[in-house]
Amino acid sequence: MTTSASAPRRILSGVQPSGKLHLGNYFGAVRQHIALQDEGECFYFIANYHALTTIHDAKTLSAYTHDVALDYLALGLDPSRSIFYRQSDVPEVTELAWVLSTVTNMGLLERAVSYKEKTEKGIEASVGLFTYPVLMAADILIVRSHVVPVGKDQVQHIEMTQDMAGKFNRAFGKEIFPEPTSRLTKESKVPGTDGQKMSKSYGNTIEIFAEGKPLKQTVMSIKTDSTPMGSPLDPERCNVFSLYSLFATDAERDELASRYRAGALGYGDAKKQLLAKIDAHFGPAREKRRDLAARPDYVEEVLRAGGLRARAVAQETMVLVREATGLPVGPVS
Ligand code: ADP
Ligand code: TRP
Repeated sequence: MTTSASAPRRILSGVQPSGKLHLGNYFGAVRQHIALQDEGECFYFIANYHALTTIHDAKTLSAYTHDVALDYLALGLDPSRSIFYRQSDVPEVTELAWVLSTVTNMGLLERAVSYKEKTEKGIEASVGLFTYPVLMAADILIVRSHVVPVGKDQVQHIEMTQDMAGKFNRAFGKEIFPEPTSRLTKESKVPGTDGQKMSKSYGNTIEIFAEGKPLKQTVMSIKTDSTPMGSPLDPERCNVFSLYSLFATDAERDELASRYRAGALGYGDAKKQLLAKIDAHFGPAREKRRDLAARPDYVEEVLRAGGLRARAVAQETMVLVREATGLPVGPVS
């Protein structure tokens, strides 16, 4: 099926509820998701099936799922412009994942970098972790999405999705799935407090919704070198400067860089400036989040309504898939 010129472009992305969202998630993914809301028909979801690869505790998974919903809504996800849902409210994705697994070569999955990285970090090498990219492809293909805004580490998964879509279409002689493309932001690697890539699994994050004393402590703990006060500092090699740059205008960034080079400030001052930027940037969203946290029924209703809309699209796709493959269009009811 080709998309007609007038059909809106579909944009889809997901985030795992595997911990509190941090600045890497924000600049690498969430901010872009919010900004794209007027550029097509947007589907954003909370990947709770995926999170089961690492979380085996019901309370934790549902608390993180609720947190991610609050975070997105507070940061500007607008349920009247985007379809926002929990992955598990569209169980058809697991059915499609099975069908896709039958056109997925083992070798393709064996080359997945994220599987290697995760097992090296000690995450159990479960079948679910190994077939994670197939479920991710199903998330994307079930709404026949064209564009997938993600961070750099997810690009290989989108390439695998292209492979599965093409293979399915060729195998069954029908153009059911468009081959989706990834869309990257320029902030592809936000550094953590220790200078490595910021990640929940490295314990080096600055949470988007941290505030007050805990936020201050985290910012003050950002690792810097031991250049003494009054000596010139190199902005290009400083984590504090990199993080500050994410929030600053070009002029503010240049100004701080020249103060670094002139030895006119110490790392402590730079950290205070970063803290002020974080507070100013997320101030309004913090208010909104507090408001939403007090209205769990509203949040639940948003997710429920989004789930119904996404599921209707998913069911349309599954009719096409069942017809193309020779599975009865059912299931019986
Ligand atoms: P984490 O590494 O903390 O577990 P995830 O893998 O859940 O983060 O990532 C969710 C999204 O955020 C992905 O699209 C990913 O590319 C993006 N992302 C995560 N960390 C960073 C980072 N440090 N810099 C840029 N983007 C990031
Ligand atoms: N794997 C993604 C991550 O860890 C989350 C995800 C699941 C996703 N399904 C997706 C992202 C579909 C984009 C499209 O960040």
